[in-house]
Amino acid sequence: MPQILAIETTCDETAAAVVEDGWRVKANVICSQVQLHQKYGGVVPEIASRAHIEWLNQLIDQALDQAGCRLPDMDGIAVAHCPGLVGCLIVGVSAAKALAFALDKPLIGVNHVHAHLYGGFLSGSAQGPPRMPIFPALGIVVSGGHSSLFYMKSFVDIQRIGATIDDAIGEAFDKVAALMELGYPGGAAVEKLARSGNAAAVDFPVSLLSADSLDFSYSGLKTAVLYRLRGRAGSQRALADVGPAERADIAASFQRAAVAPVAIKLCRAFKRFGAKSLILGGGVAANEALRSIVKQTADDHGVPFFMPSLEFCTDNAAMIGGLAQQRLNGNLISPLDLAAIATV
Ligand code: KG4
Ligand code: ZN
Repeated sequence: MPQILAIETTCDETAAAVVEDGWRVKANVICSQVQLHQKYGGVVPEIASRAHIEWLNQLIDQALDQAGCRLPDMDGIAVAHCPGLVGCLIVGVSAAKALAFALDKPLIGVNHVHAHLYGGFLSGSAQGPPRMPIFPALGIVVSGGHSSLFYMKSFVDIQRIGATIDDAIGEAFDKVAALMELGYPGGAAVEKLARSGNAAAVDFPVSLLSADSLDFSYSGLKTAVLYRLRGRAGSQRALADVGPAERADIAASFQRAAVAPVAIKLCRAFKRFGAKSLILGGGVAANEALRSIVKQTADDHGVPFFMPSLEFCTDNAAMIGGLAQQRLNGNLISPLDLAAIATV
């Protein structure tokens, strides 16, 4: 069975994985940098790239150990080479190039956002191979950096049909968490708080843009939450003056307004493009309200729904290895001068 060593360093997780046959995850190691960035309330690019340099070699060794393999056993070296923080991308890309060159193995550059759509097609060694989608499919990636809609003819023929025009949905969750001093990144904490709140309590705006738009916008919602919490000038009321019940209502109402456009844009995309499957991916896919609204949309359109298990929602290298195998199967090998590309 072919096996791929995969590397992920696009943002603030350093990760390495060994994936066999495009789905069996033999090792998936992740070193989160959250603690390094927490006090700044966001990712500091210079700190992130330095940590990748310090940690990556050890993580690769650890992944190979866990998988019980050696570098020469690999059939390819995969790396997320776009999009991301350029200083971070360069670390992973340089390591992958060096390994591919030294071992004389194929180098496979993978788009990190496309790889999020592969999270639902991985599984552990004990389970059998996952069910595969029927193409064409619609894909939706909801993460800290992206809210994007895709039309997929296959795993390697992917066209973006919608994207955020300002902030990503995960950024909005993180901003709301920051406003309520719930820590960073705070998406999961906002979800937890929302569970005890009333989602209809505050009529936050659901941003749909123009009638046929497939794009997303979250900056207006972010500002609406700020005004609701602190008053219109943004500072008329201290956070301490907002009681626990009101905080929970604001979190629940925000979450409702944040996930609603996802279902509406998906319905528009189904109408315009038609599709035989619906695939969800990205860190915010860990959110129960979002998962259930997207699943409901798939059910309403009578198509199968695919989403990652929680461990493959947030950034990881296994999804890079899985998608890389699909590329390798199609002979889509990268040259040794593969570029690190910040935006695509
Ligand atoms: O995919 P990811 O690990 O990183 C990017 O590629 O951007 O996503 C991280 C994002 C963060 O914004 C985090 O707050 C959000 O996913 N997130 C959640 C939940 N768990 C993680 N947002 C809402 N609800 C959750 N349960
Ligand atoms: Zn990601």
